[in-house]
Amino acid sequence: MRVIFLGPPGAGKGTQARRAAARWGVPWIATGDMLRGAVAAGSPLGRRAKAFVERGELVPDEVVIDLVAERLDRDDARKGFLLDGFPRTLAQAEALERLLAERGVALDRVLDFEVGEEELVRRLAGRRICGRCGACYHVHSSPPQAEGRCDRCEGALVQREDDRPDTVRRRLQVYRAATRPLVEHYRVQGLLEMVPGEGTVEEVFQAVLAAAEGGR
Ligand code: AP5
Repeated sequence: MRVIFLGPPGAGKGTQARRAAARWGVPWIATGDMLRGAVAAGSPLGRRAKAFVERGELVPDEVVIDLVAERLDRDDARKGFLLDGFPRTLAQAEALERLLAERGVALDRVLDFEVGEEELVRRLAGRRICGRCGACYHVHSSPPQAEGRCDRCEGALVQREDDRPDTVRRRLQVYRAATRPLVEHYRVQGLLEMVPGEGTVEEVFQAVLAAAEGGR
């Protein structure tokens, strides 16, 4: 299974990717998580990416493409992968096509999550993540058992820097301008499947399975 999860910020890509990757036995490759990890570690890559991520802008294509190229070369990605948050520009999509062609493999499907803007803003405003293990919660739709504490590791829950209202607005603009054109790019290639992203997490998961595993 070689799949891309496409969709606006807050559409539920990460929530669904965690479950889908486990079911398919493929690595979940999330460029946002990789970049945040690099920022937290203070690596040279992280120092370069930090200001872009915090402003809700895209990190330069060549930085992200190199990161994904390295990740695809790891053993666990040979049998498949789930890309979450990459590609996000046409240049990244074309680079991915070259990377896959060099490795003699091809994409199976691209799933585009459809969620209205009001719901995206609601989800991002209420998202909390564990500062220790990265688990994701929502203050209303998936709260932790003890307020402010991760159910898995008891780490403190925090709001992502880029989930503040001004940055969310910027991320949505960036999505519309740079990433939404990819929907057409993949439709033309016959790879696109739409996923209605507004039901419960379980309902959306069933839609993901139907879109990714169903026949065309
Ligand atoms: P990234 O981390 O990729 O952020 P994103 O695409 O904006 O996506 P999110 O993580 O915000 O949302 P999601 O769709 O995963 O939703 P989630 O499942 O968490 O990127 C961050 C930044 O990194 C970018 O702005 C950029 O700077 C940089 N970057 C990353 N990739 C890059 C690239 N390729 N090129 C350049 N720069 C790049 O869900 C959201 C909330 O909703 C959660 O609280 C969740 O609990 C809740 N929720 C989920 N599903 C449901 C549901 N069905 N019902 C109710 N609530 C739900």
